[in-house]
Amino acid sequence: MHFAIEKQERTTAELYGHLSRLEHPVHYTPERCERIHEQIQEIRRLKKERNAVLLAHNYQRPEVFEVADFIGDSLELARQASEVEVDVIVFCGVHFMAETAKILNPEKTVLLPDLRAGCSLADSVNADSLADRKEALRKLYPDLGVVSYVNTTAEVKAESDVCCTSSNAVKIVERLPHRHILFVPDENLAAYVQQQTDKTIISWDGNCYVHHQITRDQIAAVKKNLPHVKVLAHPECRADVLELADAVLSTSGMVQYAKQSDASEFLIVTECGLSDRLLLEAPEKKFYKACKLCQYMKMITLEATLQSLRVMRHEITLPEDVRQRAEKALRKMFALS
Ligand code: 13P
Ligand code: SF4
Repeated sequence: MHFAIEKQERTTAELYGHLSRLEHPVHYTPERCERIHEQIQEIRRLKKERNAVLLAHNYQRPEVFEVADFIGDSLELARQASEVEVDVIVFCGVHFMAETAKILNPEKTVLLPDLRAGCSLADSVNADSLADRKEALRKLYPDLGVVSYVNTTAEVKAESDVCCTSSNAVKIVERLPHRHILFVPDENLAAYVQQQTDKTIISWDGNCYVHHQITRDQIAAVKKNLPHVKVLAHPECRADVLELADAVLSTSGMVQYAKQSDASEFLIVTECGLSDRLLLEAPEKKFYKACKLCQYMKMITLEATLQSLRVMRHEITLPEDVRQRAEKALRKMFALS
């Protein structure tokens, strides 16, 4: 599912009223909201001038949501990136997401506002080590299939049979003909998929530093004090954390679940940006944050986004042979999900 955001042009006072509902008093003072308002106006003007669309991941800063044309999880953003008809895509997310947009849109200019927006998970596997592991494992399992999480570089996608995201990983694995699957790079998502399938999942030694640091004890302590809260967790969390969850969902899956549920209090076990989105979009409900910040996602600021559109930086480029092979793995994911 994907959606366009209803554009709501707020005045400075409305912006302050909106953002100051978050518990970030240092960030959202009236003075700062005045500056944010000016930057938003300028970004909107430049988006029109450049014929650009701005895609933002659910973990982005609340002020970035204000200028986003689409907000979503990895699958929704990849779908949007394959459908938009513009000249320029500004990606407010991390590098592998902007690369995914470029893989699907070779003729468009794709910009990432800050090149430091990487991902610890994507860094944990490279194409050469994947090729070596594949070769070794194929001697043992001739039918081996390689599924790479979208949180990987284009080179790693190019070495894979198909990609998956947190919202379709089980479905993709189930729909492949292979019985043995090398699943890269998230060991926690691999363990979660293994619980839902009879196939043999061979995992990689990688994890997301944000989700992997959340412990079972932390969640158990909240549940003990607040036994009525619904616990929503991302599948990048450790298996013993997921055991305590009422639902294991992608970031947008959590948004939908929380909005549609009859329950009114939730513990959100993922990166903190998602809790901010929920606090702003479902003010009638209560969200407890069992979350951590992703330093990479938070590299993207409104100022960096404005500069990105002003001087058209930082442009994502890819060798064409890598792009084409990576596109095959992504298109196969769309076909199977
Ligand atoms: P989602 O696809 O669920 O948004 O996850 C992306 C991500 O980076 C989680 O850490
Ligand atoms: Fe990567 Fe984890 Fe940050 Fe997601 S939250 S972008 S997986 S480091």
